[in-house]
Amino acid sequence: MEIIKVKDYQQMSEKACQLLKDKIQEREQPVIGLATGSTPEGLYQCLIEKYKRNELSFKDVVTFNLDEYVGLEKDDPNSYAYYMNEKLFKHIDISKEHAHLPGGVTTDLEIECQDYEKLIRDAKHVDVQLLGLGVNGHIGFNEPGTAFTSRTHVVNLDETTRQANARFFNSIDEVPTKAITMGIDTIMESKEILLLVSGESKSEAVARLLQGKVSEDFPASILQEHNRVTILADEAALSKV
Ligand code: F6R
Repeated sequence: MEIIKVKDYQQMSEKACQLLKDKIQEREQPVIGLATGSTPEGLYQCLIEKYKRNELSFKDVVTFNLDEYVGLEKDDPNSYAYYMNEKLFKHIDISKEHAHLPGGVTTDLEIECQDYEKLIRDAKHVDVQLLGLGVNGHIGFNEPGTAFTSRTHVVNLDETTRQANARFFNSIDEVPTKAITMGIDTIMESKEILLLVSGESKSEAVARLLQGKVSEDFPASILQEHNRVTILADEAALSKV
């Protein structure tokens, strides 16, 4: 694992933006895995700015998001589809057909999971997968205890994860209890992984990711076994390493 230490959130976002821009421009049809949450917001803002300055085009980029809440329509302000549209897609030249998220509202969630896997396979897998880190070690919505062999699947969200995400909703009762997420094995098939971590609240999780044993109790620990992982973290996040 390569660890890049930066000063703060701003620097993390700018460095991630530069790295991703280079990856996009190296390839003819780059396939990029995307994440939601607070961590990548600065990165998305920076990518938009690069697009607006004509330094970067997303015309040939294909994206796959990690996850989506079950039960939220695409136009629900708390859905990840809505988040992606507001924070990135509507500001850039990506084609709608190229920007994929699992569908959280569907008659058959199992088929949705299988279809998502097929889409990723048909795209010849993800070139660079962007990840955030949950304080409990989750990646995507793969909570502690998820099998390392898991593929895209439906999960019951941990109470801690629902509480952490309640800040985006009116109350915790509105936070969905289920989500669809790429599985750990799906994530591990990405050719490269870029994990972003910022802030003191993630410092224990980062220390465990880097120094703890590889165990399904702490999903992110599996990244130790991927041969192309870059961890881009700020000083606060690395304060316990
Ligand atoms: C989001 C995702 C989650 C987040 C993680 C960190 O698509 O899959 O694993 O990356 O919960 O969230 P933030 O960035 O809000 O701290």
